[in-house]
Amino acid sequence: MGMTIGIFDSGLGGLIIAKAIRSHITQPDMVYFGDTLHIPYGNRSAEAIYDYSCRAMDYLFNVHDCALVIVACNTVSACALRRLQQEYLIRSFPEKRILGVVVPTLECAIEKGYKNIGLIGTNRTILTNVYEEELQKINPEIQIHQINTPLLVPMIENEGMQWIDKVLEHYLEPLLEKNIECLILGCTHYAFLKERVSAMLGHNVDILSQDEIIPAKLESYLEKHTEITERLSRDGQIQFFVSDITPGYQSASEKIYGNKIEIHKTELCTVENKYK
Ligand code: DGL
Repeated sequence: MGMTIGIFDSGLGGLIIAKAIRSHITQPDMVYFGDTLHIPYGNRSAEAIYDYSCRAMDYLFNVHDCALVIVACNTVSACALRRLQQEYLIRSFPEKRILGVVVPTLECAIEKGYKNIGLIGTNRTILTNVYEEELQKINPEIQIHQINTPLLVPMIENEGMQWIDKVLEHYLEPLLEKNIECLILGCTHYAFLKERVSAMLGHNVDILSQDEIIPAKLESYLEKHTEITERLSRDGQIQFFVSDITPGYQSASEKIYGNKIEIHKTELCTVENKYK
């Protein structure tokens, strides 16, 4: 039996990325895991996010035999990915892979020739400054202007869309004078805000949404890494798991995914201090 591709997010927002990957790459079997018990990650400490992420990886690698996991969550990609790759993976699953969304997103902005980039994300994503650090490594001449926008995820998740324009306008105002050429929507949920953000920033600003970036990046990764691709099972199946059944999760997941899906609750092992 072959192995699967795992998709991990702090909650249900990553379903947008899962759906986009599914429609771009149809064959490999996939498993989605959303840590709804601990969402939101965006306001938690880096240590807590690393611990939760390790448990999620244990689950995806041990229970579902994933060959590779895509961390759809920007918060995890920004503050835990390096440790997951350099400590957790090397110690526990050296033959498997964990990929994040930060570098592929920056690569997309650079491939489009942008020199002046805007970014919005959760508190933790912006605090880590990982987007800027990674950009410095690739091309230090490119400017990035970052704004943390912590109210957006709770508003999207709690029927707050009718008030969101005011909040968005407030957050985006400082970017209006920066002459940015593109804005990275650095959070799974922000794909919902594409049109609103575009209307506010004007049509000269390209909105970079990860559901339009990650599938093609994953496809080219799989083309290059045949040692992973060869191990994947190819029945076109996708399964969905969460760590808690939260109020309204079914309607939220259907809204985010775009059609009805069956989501199962799973228990994660609680491993005291295992990852310290
Ligand atoms: N999925 C997270 C991200 O992409 C946002 C939600 C959270 O705060 O957990 O940053």
